[in-house]
Amino acid sequence: MSFLAARLARIKPSPTIAVTTKAAQLKAEGHDVIGLGAGEPDFDTPENIRAAAIKAIEGGETRYTPVAGTPALRKAIVAKFARENGLRYGLDQITVGCGGKQVIYNALMATLDAGDEVIIPAPYWVSYPDMTLLAEGKPVIVPCPQSDGFKLTPAALERAITKRTKWLILNSPSNPTGAAYSAAELKELAAVLLKHPEIWLLSDDIYEHVIYDGFAFVTIAAVEPRLYERTLTVNGVSKAYCMTGWRLGYAGGPKALIEAMNAVESHSSTHTSSITQAAAVEALNGPQSFIPRHNETFRQRRDLVVAMLNQTKGLSCTRPTGAFYVYPSCAGVIGKAAPGGRRISTDDDFVTYLLESEGVAAVQGSAFGLSPHFRISYATSTELLEEACRRIQRAAAALA
Ligand SMILES: Cc1ncc(COP(=O)(O)O)c(C=O)c1O
Repeated sequence: MSFLAARLARIKPSPTIAVTTKAAQLKAEGHDVIGLGAGEPDFDTPENIRAAAIKAIEGGETRYTPVAGTPALRKAIVAKFARENGLRYGLDQITVGCGGKQVIYNALMATLDAGDEVIIPAPYWVSYPDMTLLAEGKPVIVPCPQSDGFKLTPAALERAITKRTKWLILNSPSNPTGAAYSAAELKELAAVLLKHPEIWLLSDDIYEHVIYDGFAFVTIAAVEPRLYERTLTVNGVSKAYCMTGWRLGYAGGPKALIEAMNAVESHSSTHTSSITQAAAVEALNGPQSFIPRHNETFRQRRDLVVAMLNQTKGLSCTRPTGAFYVYPSCAGVIGKAAPGGRRISTDDDFVTYLLESEGVAAVQGSAFGLSPHFRISYATSTELLEEACRRIQRAAAALA
């Protein structure tokens, strides 16, 4: 009998965390490495949010809270959904977890039976398929190529649906491409889902606030209210409020689903930190004026990276609408040989070559289910990004 459970054989550790760890390790050993793997803002948590946490500690908010989150936090989330998304939830329709990651995990654990299918458009956030597999579900990966703007089309959705489909996961703006769905595009996908009343929808809106060029963010339960009863709208404070380490995500959805998710959470983490919850109240209710300022910095970096990658031999990069990633195609370098003769056959080979030859750590497209691409996070300083892109240009030019 094997010591490890069979379900462990189905999953792999997060490849984005692996790249970040490897880059940090090389750096600690004294190598000149620029890490472009991490999916987190390089800005500090705003001062008012930090102050709220300190006040919570001093004020004794240090004990267990309800599993679903403190009433004050759930009130702030209810208000946020109403104010920003036009979605009305009661307090008992809100759950809070240790990051959007745990909220999604709870939802899949609470609902999937062995063999239940989850439609996941690719490229996808790395955790969706592995969480599905841990919950004994079956990921149904739908390729969404660059020529479709990396977005799911109604026809591709229709083709992927079977009798076993339980969930569709939509992520807009997307990690890893930054692609975001307009209201019209969501309406078209909703029209397909309305024909299949048994399918549930998980809308991962964690990059809602990281958007550019006047893009109007909308979420599907608001665009098509007839889907409200079977949509879980997931969000969190990690990205918009620069709170990745604090670990807080939340969701709104039908009461029975939320109760089931809380039951899962009650036997794992119980809840996220009481201090973090107090800080998140301030994040959601407090001033939001730093968000456009951060976005303006991200936009300038995006434009820099897109321009420099498009000047690179063998690469082509579309300009994303949101999040802080680009997902360039490296089709033009596949088949070439690195100095020394090693052939670049896959995007894995290309990112290994970038790391070994120039000390640039990016993540291979295969990790996100669509090759040949790679992901760069531009949530790092403009100087480092410029230097990283120069190195990528040099590495690509050296291929024969
Ligand atoms: C698409 C997407 N969803 C959810 C998450 C989870 O974020 P957190 O657990 O920090 O809230 C991430 C984090 O990288 C993400 O990229």
